[in-house]
Amino acid sequence: MKFLVLHGPNLNLLGRREPEVYGSVTLDEINTSLEQLAAELGCSVAFMQSNSEGALIDAIQDCAGRYDGIVINPAAYTHTSVAIRDALAAVGIPFVEVHLSNIHRREEFRQRSLTAALAVGQICGFGRDSYLLGLRALFSYGKKS
Ligand code: DQA
Repeated sequence: MKFLVLHGPNLNLLGRREPEVYGSVTLDEINTSLEQLAAELGCSVAFMQSNSEGALIDAIQDCAGRYDGIVINPAAYTHTSVAIRDALAAVGIPFVEVHLSNIHRREEFRQRSLTAALAVGQICGFGRDSYLLGLRALFSYGKKS
């Protein structure tokens, strides 16, 4: 099975960005951990990060026929982007939404996700482990279906 991990805006700054909220781990370190987990599970992962909504939508559209699932942290677009939600609905590939922080105990505007209702599930609040749990969950979901 092949999975795409999509990282939204400002996640390229992880490690330096609000470490009290997002921790000190960098995006490269998260991707390396995901690669190690994928090798353990026997699947493959590809990665993409963009600060641009359009580039994320293009990446989601390009998944059709190429990937079995998407692990996505839409970051701030979680709360605002009807266009990303529509792209995920259009391709119809199973996805898991992940967040480093627990968005449900943060500001009110972060507590709403436009994408979660379309997801297989949402995992948040576990830092790097949110991604690792997301990949594990998507892998076992893919094996069952
Ligand atoms: C985030 C939470 C979002 O509210 C925020 O805009 C982010 C990161 C998280 O991983 O905790 O950029 O998605």
